[in-house]
Amino acid sequence: MRVLVTGGAGYIGSHLVDRLLELHHDVVVLDDLSTGNLANLHRALPNIRFVKDTILNPDVVDELVAGTDVVFHLAAAVGVGHIVEKPLSSLITNTKGAENVIEACVRHEARLLLASTSEIYGKSAKMPMSEDDDRVLGSTTIARWGYSTAKAIDEHLALAYAEQGLRMSIVRYFNSYGPRLDPRGYGSVVANLMRQALDGEPLTVHGDGTQTRCFTFVNDTVEGTLRAAFDPRGEGLVFNIGNDTETSINDLARMIVAMTNSTSNIQHVSYEARYGKGFEDTKRRIPDVRRATDILGFTAATPLQAGLTHTLQWWRTTHQ
Ligand SMILES: NC(=O)c1ccc[n+]([C@@H]2O[C@H](COP(=O)([O-])OP(=O)(O)OC[C@H]3O[C@@H](n4cnc5c(N)ncnc54)[C@H](O)[C@@H]3O)[C@@H](O)[C@H]2O)c1
Repeated sequence: MRVLVTGGAGYIGSHLVDRLLELHHDVVVLDDLSTGNLANLHRALPNIRFVKDTILNPDVVDELVAGTDVVFHLAAAVGVGHIVEKPLSSLITNTKGAENVIEACVRHEARLLLASTSEIYGKSAKMPMSEDDDRVLGSTTIARWGYSTAKAIDEHLALAYAEQGLRMSIVRYFNSYGPRLDPRGYGSVVANLMRQALDGEPLTVHGDGTQTRCFTFVNDTVEGTLRAAFDPRGEGLVFNIGNDTETSINDLARMIVAMTNSTSNIQHVSYEARYGKGFEDTKRRIPDVRRATDILGFTAATPLQAGLTHTLQWWRTTHQ
């Protein structure tokens, strides 16, 4: 099939591109390289068409979607860090940019896979989080909720167009980690802690570190994405794509210190020091993965220790 991956030079997107090539698809990537990196595509580049442009350019988006069978829309200003630092441009990318992609899919009858996020659930305390659960968000005066809100608009738009015939599915990723995560990027906790441990710096853990996340190895993230996009049973549905094992950030930091034989200690810093006044974090975030398992036959099988070992190997070979 001919596929378009927006954000294909990014962390998840580039792994997806590698896998799509292994599956012998014809791949086009659209990425403005704002947080992506051509080095992520070093293996793929000879075999893909790479277009450096923005999803905010409707003409380019339209031209690339025309004749495409499946569009994987991953391009976004990603993560809470970016939204807090650059709220306006992030919101515009994540709403107008996504609208350009979704509407081009409608015009050209391309199938759409929309990458969304566990941030959708906001600070809901209901665990595990199921796809049809309520969203619980803070005030609009707190910038972080803009990411959740923008992604929710994208989901609503895709779901509304689905009622008019758009073939689409939505995946909500839960804390993906793995090779190519950039610690200078939007602040993945795994990348940051690993860099600090290897550089002999204190590992900075926000808050008291008892907050938990469900870390999902990138190969699993990509596998869930492919199944949601290509399995006809996934059409019209939203899927949580994640591992459902909870790990506290303190435990994650301890694992990374042990694996890297680091002499670093663990330092707790306030959210306020990192993100400014009024920042709200979520204490736990566990996906209910039954729908992805039952319908797509998907499970995020990679244990954290194994995924971290792969990530560390990659880190050591690329950061010497
Ligand atoms: N990494 C995670 O744990 C996680 C969790 C939830 C959701 N997501 C979603 O997954 C997708 C991929 O995220 P990622 O973690 O790979 O981050 P990433 O920053 O590595 O990838 C995003 C890519 O989009 C590109 N991009 C940004 N703005 C663009 C624009 N205007 N036009 C064209 N390209 C643009 C960037 O250059 C980058 O290559 C995003 O939609 C994100 O919201 C990721």
